[in-house]
Amino acid sequence: MYVCLCLGVTDGKIRDAIYDGCCSYREVREATGVGTQCGKCACLAKEVVRDTLTELQTARNAALPYPVEFTAA
Ligand code: FES
Repeated sequence: MYVCLCLGVTDGKIRDAIYDGCCSYREVREATGVGTQCGKCACLAKEVVRDTLTELQTARNAALPYPVEFTAA
């Protein structure tokens, strides 16, 4: 699904950026350019970032014997 029409950024590209090491909306924005033109996509992009980080945190907490926390900024 397209999140950012100005730059053609999809939810998959946002998730890939997180899987490649981005751990905040700011880092995803710098990596993909999402939200840097008109800004109308920022809320949805933040939601995708937050959901993806939560999924990763849940998966990692299940795999590790101790809790890991992320901060979605
Ligand atoms: S729709 Fe993303 S910056 Fe315009």
